[in-house]
Amino acid sequence: MVDQAHTLLNVPRDLGSIDTIANDSQVGACRPRQQDQGVTMKVTTSLTELIGNTPLLDISSIVPAGGAKLFAKLEYLNPGGSIKDRPALAMIEAAERDGRLQPGMTIVEPTAGNTGIGLALAGNLKGYRTVFFVPDRMSHEKIVLMQLYGAEVILVDKSCGMTECIERAHAYAATHGNCFVPLQFENPANPEQAETRLAREIEQQLGYVPDGMAIGAGTGGTFTGIARWLHQRNPNARCWLVQPVGSVFRGDEKRPYLVEGIGNSFVPKNLELELAHRIVDIPCERAFARCRDMARRLGVLTGGSGGANAEAAVRLCTELGEGKSVVTVFPDNLERYASKQWVRNLVEGEE
Ligand SMILES: Cc1ncc(COP(=O)(O)O)c(C=O)c1O
Repeated sequence: MVDQAHTLLNVPRDLGSIDTIANDSQVGACRPRQQDQGVTMKVTTSLTELIGNTPLLDISSIVPAGGAKLFAKLEYLNPGGSIKDRPALAMIEAAERDGRLQPGMTIVEPTAGNTGIGLALAGNLKGYRTVFFVPDRMSHEKIVLMQLYGAEVILVDKSCGMTECIERAHAYAATHGNCFVPLQFENPANPEQAETRLAREIEQQLGYVPDGMAIGAGTGGTFTGIARWLHQRNPNARCWLVQPVGSVFRGDEKRPYLVEGIGNSFVPKNLELELAHRIVDIPCERAFARCRDMARRLGVLTGGSGGANAEAAVRLCTELGEGKSVVTVFPDNLERYASKQWVRNLVEGEE
């Protein structure tokens, strides 16, 4: 059925969507990647133009025989190294459009790190100062990257979690004034950009609408955006929401977990749980084992949330079976966690 869809829509599989995207003004500037097709990269004047249009990799080889095809959006190839470059830029631009963000203002945000990196990157280029409140369990690498971009990073005790970061960010903005708090957990520009741009890229790259998705949520922006699109474009599609064991999206009591970026101690407004056909709990060890497996078998380095997504997506592929297709995302790079013990364990825990 997958092959048929390609034939019907006349989209050559291995050329991907490069030409399709190039002709579509709504998905931004064309940046052809396949030099052997006779096209070259255009000169880019701002790094923000390079956000999005990431490759879609066929990783069906990790699905047991008889399963659906599996495709992963390589979001770690965004300029700031994660999927969060997308909502960061979208939230800044939406606020500039309606006047909530003006020259001379400071952007203040509670973040697990990747949104901070995206906001600092885009914010710098546009001349804004940035201040972030980050739970202190987040990786050293993400904190250093925010600081390298010139952001002020305020670490919050991990026992207080993200809710404390949100309160502290609001308090900082109220005390200092002239601040804009994008608040990725509620900002509608976050899921909107995933629905109108990220999901659209996937459809154009595949040349058809897939039969399922398995994607984790932190703020819910990515899950909600892609799930809205999938519900609309293929009402029979299955939408699986992925969380680490210990997250509360099912209403369970919060317990500590090691994966960063997905799961939460509350259900954010941007996470539309009613779009999820199933909430899949992935133990961190399973997510990390997947990261190592994909590094070796595919050359793909993705962080723990990518490992959790892949683990759940493989299960969905097995359930849907041959002739179907599933999409997921690899939000950031494993390198971003190199100093974490769990990454060392992956290297040292050799059989
Ligand atoms: C590594 C990583 N994976 C996944 C996510 C989840 O994305 P979303 O906030 O769109 O739910 C995040 C969010 O910060 C992240 O940093």
